[in-house]
Amino acid sequence: MKRAVIIGTGSALPQRVLSNFDLEGMVETSDEWITARTGIKTRHIAGVGEETSQLAAGAARQALAMAELEPDDLDLIVVGTITPDMTMPSCACLVQKELGARRAFAMDVNAACSGFLYALDMADKYICRNPGWKILVIGAETLSSRVDWQDRNTCVLFGDGAGACVVTGAEGSRGYLASRLFADGTLWELLHLEGAPGHNPELRPNVNTDPSIMMYGREVFRHAIRAMADAVSRVLADQGVRPAELSLVIPHQANIRIIRSLAEHLALPLEKVYVNVDKYGNTSAATVPIALDEANRQGMLKTGDLLLLCSFGGGFTWGASLIRW
Ligand code: UT7
Repeated sequence: MKRAVIIGTGSALPQRVLSNFDLEGMVETSDEWITARTGIKTRHIAGVGEETSQLAAGAARQALAMAELEPDDLDLIVVGTITPDMTMPSCACLVQKELGARRAFAMDVNAACSGFLYALDMADKYICRNPGWKILVIGAETLSSRVDWQDRNTCVLFGDGAGACVVTGAEGSRGYLASRLFADGTLWELLHLEGAPGHNPELRPNVNTDPSIMMYGREVFRHAIRAMADAVSRVLADQGVRPAELSLVIPHQANIRIIRSLAEHLALPLEKVYVNVDKYGNTSAATVPIALDEANRQGMLKTGDLLLLCSFGGGFTWGASLIRW
C-alpha cells in the first residue's frame, strides 16, 4: 500500500513582530506574567498584503519549491483555517488562484487548532486511492483579526502565520503511518468565536455579534493536557511504538506548560519536543506546520525517523498523527 509522504515544507510569517513589552503598553499585563504563564515572548501580526490566503500561498510556494513541483502539478489543496479571508470562497480557492494551480480542486477544513492535522489526515486518505496525486496541505491563520485587543486573557496568546507541506504517495515503510482524531462539540462554549459574517440575529437572537475569540483558559488548559496525552498514547499503542522510539514530537504551540506536561507524559526530554511558542505564540492551525517546516529546514528530520504530531483546539478538536520521515 502506498502512503502519503511529505516531499516539501514551507512557512510564512507576517513582517510585524509584537513583543510582550509592546503589549504592556496596550493592556494591563507584563512580560513576566506572559512568559511565566505561557512561554510566549513575541508573536507576528498580519498587515496589508498578509491576509490568511496570502500567508498560505507564501508557505505553499516554499513547499512546492522544496518538492521541485509547479503549481500545475497539484491535484488538491486543503487549508486548515478558522480565519479565512472571507466566508466564501474558501481560503483554499484563493490559494489556488494566488498560485495559479489550475488543475487542483480546493477546500478548507475548519477544525480550529487541529485543522492541519485533520487536513493532513484527509490528504493521506486521498493518496491511498490516488497515489500519484500531489496534495498541498496548509495550516494558516490571522487570528489577530479576531482577537479583542482589550482582553488581556486572550490578546497576549495568539499570533498569525502559515505552514504548508506537499504530500504524494510512496511505497515502503516511510510516510503517514496512523492517526487518532477526535472531537467533542458538547464543550464548544469553552473556546469559541462567534459573530460569523452574515449570521442571522432572528435565528440566534442571543448570539454575541462582536467577533472576538472567547476562551475559558483554565478549563481549556486542563482538557488540552488530558486530551493530547490520550490521543498520543492511543496512536502509539495502535502502532506498537514506545515513546522512546520517537525522534521528534511536534505539538500544538499554545502554552509551554502544556508542551512540558506532554513531554513528561511521554517521559521524553524537552530536546525531543519542538518548541517555538516563544517566537510566534499560538497561531492555531498554523503552529504544527510552521514547526514542521522549521524542524525540516534545520535538518532535525532524518529518513526513517519517527515523528509525532499532536494538537488540541476549539470544538473541541484534537488528535495525534505518527509519521515515518
Ligand atoms: O489553541 C487552543 C488551545 N488553547 C490552549 O491550550 C490555551 C489553554 N490555556 C492556557 O494556556 C492558560 O489557561 C492561559 C495562559 C490562557 C492562562 O493561564 P492560567 O495560568 O490558566 O491563568 P488564569 O486564567 O487562571 O488567570 C490567572 C490570573 C487571573 O487573575 P486572578 O483572577 O487570579 O486575580 C487573570 O485575571 O492571571 C490573570 N491574567 C493576567 N494577568 C496578567 C490573565 N491574563 C493575564 C495577562 N496578564 N495577560
